[in-house]
Amino acid sequence: MKPIRKAVFPVAGLGTRFLPATKAMPKEMLPIVDKPLIQYAVEEAIAAGVTDLIFITGRNKRAIEDHFDRVPELEADLESKNKTALLDTVRNIIPAHVNCIYTRQPAPLGLGHAVLCAAPIVGNEPFAVLLADDLIDADTSVTQQLVEAAHQQDGSVLAIQDVDRRETDKYGIISGTSVNDKTTRLSGIVEKPKPESAPSTLAVVGRYVLEPEIFEHLRQTQAGVGGEIQLTDGIASLLKSRGVYGLQYEGLRYDCGNKQGFFRATLELGRKYHGL
Ligand code: UTP
Repeated sequence: MKPIRKAVFPVAGLGTRFLPATKAMPKEMLPIVDKPLIQYAVEEAIAAGVTDLIFITGRNKRAIEDHFDRVPELEADLESKNKTALLDTVRNIIPAHVNCIYTRQPAPLGLGHAVLCAAPIVGNEPFAVLLADDLIDADTSVTQQLVEAAHQQDGSVLAIQDVDRRETDKYGIISGTSVNDKTTRLSGIVEKPKPESAPSTLAVVGRYVLEPEIFEHLRQTQAGVGGEIQLTDGIASLLKSRGVYGLQYEGLRYDCGNKQGFFRATLELGRKYHGL
């Protein structure tokens, strides 16, 4: 498999679970302590060797572009006041060798549709997808763990987590055969199955390394659960012709797309990294 240089960040969702906070501001800009969710995801991708960051944006997402841009007047002010630590913090969010590319999803038609919007930029190489509202605290970047597994298996790899059976209807759930203690080769995947019909309790979380063949499958994917074009359905089609694997990653995930997970992340990461 070719090296993974590109990462896609779908950030065009409406973030309705955080209204009114997300009425004018993207959900991905909500901070855990002092850093927006999207920056945690960007740092994770860069730690995995990614050099091209592709943001799929929508309405109200200008704050994300501004966040990753330089602010000369702020830098000049911090410099004149000798606030060097803060100056480093705002200057070095994106290292010089990394590019930010923005494209729009015309309407929030679903995660699968958002990923498909990246096709002309990604081209014919494997790429990572990171959903910033899944914040994963890990010693080794989870994207890095997926990249290594993708090279080992020579196929697409999804981050998976064993969840409580009562929660299967919140996730894409896989079925398959185990390759080793952490890796499963998928034979199927379904979006948000009811607990009684879920094929397993192995749930897909917001990290993927995908082969470019996924785009062909997404182009043919019809709207599914919730009337949206689901990435899960594209992957279900992909795995009929290519190897797709699930990796039980090392790390602690916070689902910051809901208030409970967001609050827990603030509390636990605030304690762990900020001594709060
Ligand atoms: P979610 O369904 O969790 O996000 O999508 P949402 O729709 O913004 O949030 P709620 O449910 O209304 O509170 C997961 C990720 O996919 C992106 C979202 O921005 C989020 O990062 N997404 C979703 C898109 O980019 N486009 C879409 O059409 C849908």
